Amino acid sequence: SVIYLKDYTVPAFLVETVDLRFELDATATCVESVLRMRRNPQASPDESLCLFGHDSLELLSLSIDGVDLPSSAWLRQDEVLRLTVQLNETFELRCVTKINPEANTALEGLYLSDGMFCTQCEAEGFRRITFYPDRPDVMAVFTTTLIANKNEYPILLSNGNPVAQGSDETNHWVTWQDPFPKPAYLFALVAGDLSCAEDTFITQSGRAVKLQIYAEAKDLDKLGHAMESLKQSMRWDERVYGREYDLDIYMIVAVDFFNMGAMENKGLNIFNTSCVLAHPRTTTDAAFQRVESVVAHEYFHNWSGNRVTCRDWFQLSLKEGFTVFRDQCFSADMHSAAVRRVEDVTLLRTAQFAEDAGPMSHPVRPESFIEISNFYTLTVYEKGAEIVRMLHTLLGESLFRKGTDLYFDRHDGQAVTTDDFVACMEAVSQRDLTQFKRWYSQAGTPRLDVIDDYDADQGTYSLRFIQSTPPTPGQTEKYPLHIPLNLALFDSNGEVIPLSNGQSSQLLELTNEETTFVVEGLHEQPIPSLLRGFSAPVKLFYPYTEEQLSFLLTYEMDGFSRWDAGQQLAVRLLQARILKGGKVEEELPKTIVAAWKVLLENASDDPAMASLLLTLPTEAYLSEISSVIDVDAIFHARRTVRRQLAQALETQWLTLYNEMGSEERYRPDSSEMARRSLKNTCLSYLMALDSPTYLALAEQQFAESDNMTEQFAALSAVVYSVFTDSAREMLDEFLNQWQHESLVMNQWLALQAADPKAGALSRVKALLEHPVYDSRNPNKLRAVISTFCNQNTVNFHGLDGEGYRFLADKIIELDKQNPQVASRLLTPLTRWKRYDDQRQALMKAQLQRIIESGDLSGDVYEVLSKSMA
Ligand code: ARG
Ligand code: ZN
Repeated sequence: SVIYLKDYTVPAFLVETVDLRFELDATATCVESVLRMRRNPQASPDESLCLFGHDSLELLSLSIDGVDLPSSAWLRQDEVLRLTVQLNETFELRCVTKINPEANTALEGLYLSDGMFCTQCEAEGFRRITFYPDRPDVMAVFTTTLIANKNEYPILLSNGNPVAQGSDETNHWVTWQDPFPKPAYLFALVAGDLSCAEDTFITQSGRAVKLQIYAEAKDLDKLGHAMESLKQSMRWDERVYGREYDLDIYMIVAVDFFNMGAMENKGLNIFNTSCVLAHPRTTTDAAFQRVESVVAHEYFHNWSGNRVTCRDWFQLSLKEGFTVFRDQCFSADMHSAAVRRVEDVTLLRTAQFAEDAGPMSHPVRPESFIEISNFYTLTVYEKGAEIVRMLHTLLGESLFRKGTDLYFDRHDGQAVTTDDFVACMEAVSQRDLTQFKRWYSQAGTPRLDVIDDYDADQGTYSLRFIQSTPPTPGQTEKYPLHIPLNLALFDSNGEVIPLSNGQSSQLLELTNEETTFVVEGLHEQPIPSLLRGFSAPVKLFYPYTEEQLSFLLTYEMDGFSRWDAGQQLAVRLLQARILKGGKVEEELPKTIVAAWKVLLENASDDPAMASLLLTLPTEAYLSEISSVIDVDAIFHARRTVRRQLAQALETQWLTLYNEMGSEERYRPDSSEMARRSLKNTCLSYLMALDSPTYLALAEQQFAESDNMTEQFAALSAVVYSVFTDSAREMLDEFLNQWQHESLVMNQWLALQAADPKAGALSRVKALLEHPVYDSRNPNKLRAVISTFCNQNTVNFHGLDGEGYRFLADKIIELDKQNPQVASRLLTPLTRWKRYDDQRQALMKAQLQRIIESGDLSGDVYEVLSKSMA
């Protein structure tokens, strides 16, 4: 059934305290909960008490104020248990349930990961543990006692501080108390045989906080980076937001079976191993950076999410958009701000824009949903972060900080809305942000068309901005948005022209469908740089000439805009080739070769940025900007241009490759990561030449490197080359070397799943039978199935339709096991409208087949029904 934002009502009953007692057992865990409840004075007095509880709960007993209730005292329907007895203003509700963690393959609620107990309660997992008013605006103080066999589960963890413990011959128990009221989605417990890395952090006010990161003993050597990242995050949040940590202990636990990246449970974060473990030998630089940013993200949630939480799930972006913005700024401070901005915009422009253009398009604050898990999306997270960034841009650093101070102060301990967040920004800035709030409620990617005109006689230059948003499912009418546009004008010498504010750039606020901006007193036609820093999440259309793009690539100082000029230059060329089917080998335009040559010559000034500048737009981005996605033409065009760029500048690539080499031992710092990144970009271009000389180079790098970044880059370069025998050998050698490292094996699987050579589907099917594969583990499913369907475009979209059939088969199978993961895997099939008629028909047939396969989860049903509407 569909849930609507407009139907929100306050909870009828509030929970003051919760006492939980778990007798942990793999197949029969007994959960006792005692809730001190009271009627909410703000709710209507005749509402009955409703508790949520999943079908899988076995209800053993229910009592009120010590009196057992007969089963006639409640109605249990779907996920709701409604009490039909008269209740006092305050009372104690006791509930005993039995659950089976081992049978829990959905990985929501309490489940087993490699033999250890763990939980995932966001968004609605707590109702798989016990009956409870499981909604984020019901906040309570939790006390949790865990009882388990002391040999099998020597470590027992929950939220807050340990306050008591004891043991007998076989079992032991620990009681944890979390003094901060919280919604049930932030509850967590862990029990298992775990090792831990420990450290201490002294907060700005001088309190000592114990930091612990738990993992299986074999991974104890992979926790240092997460620990460093945690301490850096804690310091950063004090410095930049004035936020201090509030408990005496902060724990992170790494688990191998996890649906998402990580979870910010109060005082006890639970992480996918892929987002916490890192070691130079087994982990690439990209993964090191991901660990750093996910650790920061979950830590920042302690304030933006936990101390101040969401009133209802429609407000999810209140915590996620804001927290993503916070983690983006943190990484920008730790490394290169321009590089991080390019990465964030790339994700937004490819994946979020594609989501906006698909059947699941929704506003950052959705109006309705069937299954909230389907709304942990790029729109809520990434576009949500762009909204917060725009507020930051409009208000400026210092007012924005005043706004967040007010927000944390005013709403500490509350469950609030995105309107409450914006209200704080309005209060400190005295601005009216009513129109701005449309960013939360209006779905779709706005389009901004720019037309300019230069009047040489008058020396006036005018820019006309026209904004529009195409209709999205369920939202046909669109209104103008409040768009901050950062603008600079350049003269022909490459100097910025001071604008009317006396500055080198100006922030325009476009609020109407059409706005014209005029600059006077010019001596020549300027070159505009529009949307510097990607100041708003829009699609910009301005008819740049190739010369203008090359000019901006040379002179623009804004890192994002400079990079984008280079990308757009490449997009031009690629699009022209795509129109011709992609395989043509006509000569490369001089502008491109000249531009790439200059980039290569200056690359060592900023290797991280150079690596991005030298990388062609991805297939995903080229697809997103196509009207009809021509999978093969995109693939071949990109591939051909890469090879031609490799040929045209072969000596430059090789010189730079050698220059970026190093005899030093591995260090995971920014400058070393940048160097390796550029070096590997060079290697991949060189390998495009199909030359045995460069194969030897890659083999040497593979054999000699002391770190996964270089080893894996060499392996990838060879696997994607024409040297199939060498590739096979190298893959086998890699497997032998790393078969006991689960995360490394994910990479090994994913690399092969993405290999575009013919016959990919049968290779993928063989991977599913390989001993390192495990169909119960979401990381493995993603590594093989998701990688094949999203990255191996030429094979997934093969015209025999077998790729589509394969995915449909997997969804049907997986939906019974893990609906959340099944629903996510479905994405590529839902985008059928973007392809040619033949593929559309094939994709729709498979969607139809899934629909007809029988009983579907709400997760998969929602996505399917919206895709076929
Ligand atoms: N709050 C977590 C994070 O962004 C994500 C949890 C997602 N859980 C889910 N069931 N979809 O850090
Ligand atoms: Zn989050």
